[in-house]
Amino acid sequence: MSSCILNAPAKVNLHLEILGDRADGYHELAMVLQSINLADRITLQSSSIDRIQVRCDHPLVPNDTSNLAYRAAELMSQQFPQAFARYGGIDILIEKRIPVGAGLAGGSTNAAAVLVGVNLLWKLGLTKSELERLGATLGSDVPFCVEGGTVLATGRGEQLAPLPDLANVPVVLAKYQKLSVSTAWAYKTYRQQFNQTYTQDEASILARREQVHAGPIVGAIMRQDLVGIGQLLRNDLEKVVLPAYESVQSLRSTLATQAGVLGTMMSGSGPTVFALCETTTAAEAAAVATRRTINNPDLSVWVTTVRSEGIELAATQAIPKDI
Ligand code: C5P
Repeated sequence: MSSCILNAPAKVNLHLEILGDRADGYHELAMVLQSINLADRITLQSSSIDRIQVRCDHPLVPNDTSNLAYRAAELMSQQFPQAFARYGGIDILIEKRIPVGAGLAGGSTNAAAVLVGVNLLWKLGLTKSELERLGATLGSDVPFCVEGGTVLATGRGEQLAPLPDLANVPVVLAKYQKLSVSTAWAYKTYRQQFNQTYTQDEASILARREQVHAGPIVGAIMRQDLVGIGQLLRNDLEKVVLPAYESVQSLRSTLATQAGVLGTMMSGSGPTVFALCETTTAAEAAAVATRRTINNPDLSVWVTTVRSEGIELAATQAIPKDI
């Protein structure tokens, strides 16, 4: 195989709870992450020169070493130098469908696709959990993006416990194209404002993690209780992002009041807001009504569904045999 094409889906957070500080400077989290059917297309091609190259059709995505997809390929070349020498370099083409700086894990899912794709191209035979362990060194959401589906994620976000799939739930997403929020800023601001609420000792963090495992949102997912899930959506980062971005607050309120919407929340550090809906018809009507009410050409609104897989191989091409 000399090339492969992968679909790299976005995610939303059904639950994002900040438990406390970690010694490594990150936050202890308890999250429920959900893949959705909005995906970037990643083409990986073995190249004859020992070099990693990234190209992307989106002007805001860097083509250099700061791109997480580049860093994923670099990590694989460092971990598996013999395969890198044998198969040559990697050309990475990213066709962006997921909005950038949106709280939808667009960069993380691109990196996850590169890990999965290089594993195939170089015939490394790494398991999903081995790829997830590598992914954790690149970013907190990368392991989930390899895994996909509906997952309870704790620790920094890298400790994954898969939950039952939610079948075909319609989702509306809405984002102002020109607005993006820095994840580092959102967490830093949260720490400044709410660190007095942090759970301090490790035993209490473990206890709280267990409570989330056995708690209402996981229970509602186990029962496939969509009304319950809609009511239980939670994202602690809303407490800092919504007051700072009034337009996101009012977008969220507009979406939340549409008929057939079961629950509305900001995803990750935002600024994308999403709504879980009863039916596809309700989701389409909510999307149209939100667009009409806000009436701003910078607003993008999508209708999609939840998805039960992570990175998906769309096509491969074999290396032609020497004759
Ligand atoms: O891991 P990742 O690079 O995606 O994280 C982006 C930023 O989000 C980090 O620099 C950190 O400020 C914040 N973060 C955090 N705790 C986490 C995950 C992310 O504080 N568990």
